[in-house]
Amino acid sequence: MEIKKRSLKHIRHQDLGNLLAYETTTNGVCGRTTQGYFQATVYTPNIIRVQISQNDFFDELSYAVVCTPEPAEFEVTENKGSILLQTNCLQLEIAKESVLFSFLNNKGQMLNEDCPGLGVSFMGDSKAVYKTMQKGERFIGLGEKTGNLDRKGSGYTNWNTDSFAYSAESDPLYCTIPFYIGLHNQLAYGIFLDNTYQSHFNFGASNDRFSSFTVQGGDLNYYFIHGSSVAEIISFYTHLTGRMQMPPLWGLGYQQCRYSYYPDHEVYQVAQTFRKKQIPADAVVLDIHYMDNYKIFSWDSDRFPDPEKMIKDLKDQGFNVVVMCDPGIKIEKNYHAYEEGVKQDLFLKYPDGTYYSGQVWPGWCHFPDFTKPNTRNWWGDKMEEYARQGVKGYWNDMNEIATWGQKLPELIEFDFDGEGGSTKRGRNVYGLMMCKSTFEGAKKHLDDERPFNLTRAAYSGVQRYAAVWTGDNVSTDEHMLLGVRLVNSLGLSGVAYAGYDIGGFVGEPSIALFARWISIGAFSPFFRGHSMVNSRDSEPWSFGEEVEDISRNYINLRYQLIPYLYSVFYQAHTSGIPVSRSLAIDYSFDDQIYNSSYQNQYLFGPNILVAPVESHKEITKVYLPEGHWYNFHTEELHRGPTEIYVDAPLTHLPLFVKAGSVLPMQSIVQSTQQSPEPLLHLHVYAEGYSEFLYYEDDGNSYQYQSGSSYRRNIISNHQESTLVLSEVEGSWPSKFSEIKIYFHGFTKIDSVKLYDAEHQLKEEEMTFLPAISNFDPRGIEVLEKKITVSTLTIENSDQEIELLF
Ligand code: GLC
Repeated sequence: MEIKKRSLKHIRHQDLGNLLAYETTTNGVCGRTTQGYFQATVYTPNIIRVQISQNDFFDELSYAVVCTPEPAEFEVTENKGSILLQTNCLQLEIAKESVLFSFLNNKGQMLNEDCPGLGVSFMGDSKAVYKTMQKGERFIGLGEKTGNLDRKGSGYTNWNTDSFAYSAESDPLYCTIPFYIGLHNQLAYGIFLDNTYQSHFNFGASNDRFSSFTVQGGDLNYYFIHGSSVAEIISFYTHLTGRMQMPPLWGLGYQQCRYSYYPDHEVYQVAQTFRKKQIPADAVVLDIHYMDNYKIFSWDSDRFPDPEKMIKDLKDQGFNVVVMCDPGIKIEKNYHAYEEGVKQDLFLKYPDGTYYSGQVWPGWCHFPDFTKPNTRNWWGDKMEEYARQGVKGYWNDMNEIATWGQKLPELIEFDFDGEGGSTKRGRNVYGLMMCKSTFEGAKKHLDDERPFNLTRAAYSGVQRYAAVWTGDNVSTDEHMLLGVRLVNSLGLSGVAYAGYDIGGFVGEPSIALFARWISIGAFSPFFRGHSMVNSRDSEPWSFGEEVEDISRNYINLRYQLIPYLYSVFYQAHTSGIPVSRSLAIDYSFDDQIYNSSYQNQYLFGPNILVAPVESHKEITKVYLPEGHWYNFHTEELHRGPTEIYVDAPLTHLPLFVKAGSVLPMQSIVQSTQQSPEPLLHLHVYAEGYSEFLYYEDDGNSYQYQSGSSYRRNIISNHQESTLVLSEVEGSWPSKFSEIKIYFHGFTKIDSVKLYDAEHQLKEEEMTFLPAISNFDPRGIEVLEKKITVSTLTIENSDQEIELLF
């Protein structure tokens, strides 16, 4: 045998080459080039999928995408140098020589184009697409990624990783969401790279020529999305990858966690303290110590002799229980999960057919292969016992997969629904598929009740099954602000329901830091305090009276905002628009919002602007974008765009309400299980125009999917001096029989006329009750001056209600 001295196969870039042949397909066009194959498929007029491979077949299995191509009108035309695939919104131009893909809008404006000379690149198993950097281009999204809101100049890797105590620059973290939005020249587009292998994104890091994405295996398979706004692109992306179902109402409440509360009397104690101190809360979370030797589906019988009774007792006090679910199954004879897993062949394997073992909390473990249907069903059915015991919340952790040593061998075999794959393909979807199994199992066994499901690791589409929290953060101001950006970025990437460990998981927060963190956390979609084993107590009362008061105030405010927040969750459920909205959603082309001083600001729902500020600052600079804004605490009106200095003592997180908008609120309750007073507090802010879709349902079942809900538009129109509550749709009755309207910033009105659905005058000359107070109507002491807010109470009817003032 002759062994060559020098290999001729050193891996170098190879492009797609020239077009050899193409044909029009049912949904688009496919073609063969000198070096590969491609296929472009129209999903909707706004979404075109591009698949590129060196083989004449393409990977089709996706755990992320839930829709198929819709019949849409399109045209394929051949020009001298290119093939053009056109819908009524989008054009894809495919150059014939050195095949390149360019996307233009229907006006012919360039949205995104392969970089001439680089374009598509094959290098061994890895494949990449290089895109020309457009003038002034910004990049947002990519899920749970550290760094700036505008990702330009940064590069990232997607490889789900147990990133204990990560830093503000660490990458990768726990989740892979290969979706980003590009912005330039008042144009917006999105790219979703649906490939679960390790991937790399470069947004002009170390170069001034391109943005690119690279996969370490599988096909280049990306969806190009064009919309008129960032919001529309998110909505199209979540059309592809699905949206969250309505969470249980209690999932919007405060959850108290630590590593770990045990034995049971400590859990009782925590719950009782909330009630005694009148600090609202909805859940106690049990971390790994509830289990017998960390064995999933078991309870430590000394610490928790009667879990069922404890869960019931807690429920009677308005608390739900969330339990930790780790995937590692302890290798132990006679342990049912282990025995069943072996018998039914449910675990990940080495290529030689032996089970993979790795060490995690219980010691040596096998790991369920969640890409196998039997394993998913088995795991799901294991939720039956928890459900029977009354558990309603599930916390999927360590699902990157985390093992001691953090080096899952690359050659482990995953089933991939019979298709097969290795760790290289499976790692990034392990968390997603675990969440799917937990969620669907819990849902089945909870008998039409909505489970609360939480995860650390994820892939695109996770929003269908679980909320995401940002893992093992650290007790620093930097982390507090980073958490906000991570949650906002998850929101830009389809995950509307996300949060962080309030107070920081690793380390101990100062008194001031905890106070600030819990007030910001009250404006996070998922709201939970958590801390590491052997660290100081970190419940809202553990930092002295002042912080206890601050915590109570902000948790109270969160609970008062539930009618608003629940409606915002409904909007996320129907459109994918997140609950925490980076300002890049509504003010995408305003350069100031990307300024490092302002990039953490966000809208909580459409109407409340939150300006997170470090714990040591008593005063801060805030940027208010276009529009008018009321300081929530002082009622002062600011005209944006403007930069202002705002007082920010620990007691007063800078919050602003959009002029012209409404905030539906309720009385303080100690948990969402307690009924509020039957009075909806509707705060109306003067100036401008707004529409808000108000939503209620039973908060617990899936009946809303068959119309059992309460939906009405609230339209505030200052120019016409009207406030209209449209006729109610849906069959669910509102909790509120009366509506108290608070008029903020209205100076000239002294009477209000009320019209009924037939536009007949119902009441003339309704008079205001001016309320002058040191406290704003929501209980937080006002800064400096007293405020006056006039109020009016009307009956809540399902018919249209119109007020003229
Ligand atoms: C992981 C989780 C953390 C949890 C701990 C023990 O580090 O991220 O939240 O408390 O495991 O279960």
